Amino acid sequence: MTSVILDCDPGHDDAIALLLTLASPEIGLLGVTTVSGNQTLDRTTANAIRVLDHLGRDDIPVAAGADRPLVRRREVAANVHGHTGLDGPELPGPGREPCAEHAVDWLAGVVDSAPEPVTLVPTGPLTNVALFLARYPELKRKLDGIVLMGGAIGEGNVTPAAEFNIWVDPEAAARVFGSGVDLTMVGLDVTHRALMTPAHAQRLASTGRAGRLVADLYDFYSRFHRDRYGWDGAPVHDACAVARVIDPTLIETCTCGVRIDTGGELSRGRTNADRWGRVGWEPNCHVAVDIDAERFLGLLVDRISGLG
Ligand code: RIB
Ligand code: CA
Repeated sequence: MTSVILDCDPGHDDAIALLLTLASPEIGLLGVTTVSGNQTLDRTTANAIRVLDHLGRDDIPVAAGADRPLVRRREVAANVHGHTGLDGPELPGPGREPCAEHAVDWLAGVVDSAPEPVTLVPTGPLTNVALFLARYPELKRKLDGIVLMGGAIGEGNVTPAAEFNIWVDPEAAARVFGSGVDLTMVGLDVTHRALMTPAHAQRLASTGRAGRLVADLYDFYSRFHRDRYGWDGAPVHDACAVARVIDPTLIETCTCGVRIDTGGELSRGRTNADRWGRVGWEPNCHVAVDIDAERFLGLLVDRISGLG
């Protein structure tokens, strides 16, 4: 079993990733930390709790983190996830408050006291993770690794150059990619190859509370992708990162040097991946280059269905 902390910005695909985490015996979820990203911190935090409440999982701690990037202006993705960050499903408001501690300090306490090394799974901007690494560098040795959703070898999704999570806080990403911690980047190159479809949603809708919730999340979330890309499906980006932890054979990676552009607007947030060793950068990341989409989606549907 892999001990995991999910650092997220729910967000429809974060919510599905959280459900997949809870449904998978390969993962021991130590807790959830939240960050400003798809929506403001108050909303992403409320959404994480709302999803856990839906499954009666008040045993899973939630700690709120950074309410803005390290240095850039706060950006959200209301055009994708709506005003609440989880538009679509009818979910009650959060039934509890997050932990009193800031996510970065909460993370440090859990990582430091964990009996075995912890895997961080960030599925939002990397602000919390960068702050954690800066404030508690001595705890790097207690991390088994970081498996993040973000970036792209190819085109971005918020600009031609950059993927949203990296674009929101490029300085944080640069810190994480330069940290020396074992890093896996699950980017758009693979998440866009594994689209959840109406058929998957339909199968899930009748399997119980969790499946119904995912079907309702999909119904709202897929509209953006239909309008933007003309797809009859939607990428469950964050669940791909969780799936990599569950079964690494689902996603093929290549280890290479990746450097983050923290510059001006056109290239801001680009994950420059030296996949073919052209520029001889020190390899610092396992970059996802392919996904077994059928097995991933089968796992997702089976596990969410099993939640009842
Ligand atoms: O670019 C996709 C990523 O940005 C996903 O994690 C989505 O939830 C948003 O955070
Ligand atoms: Ca996310």
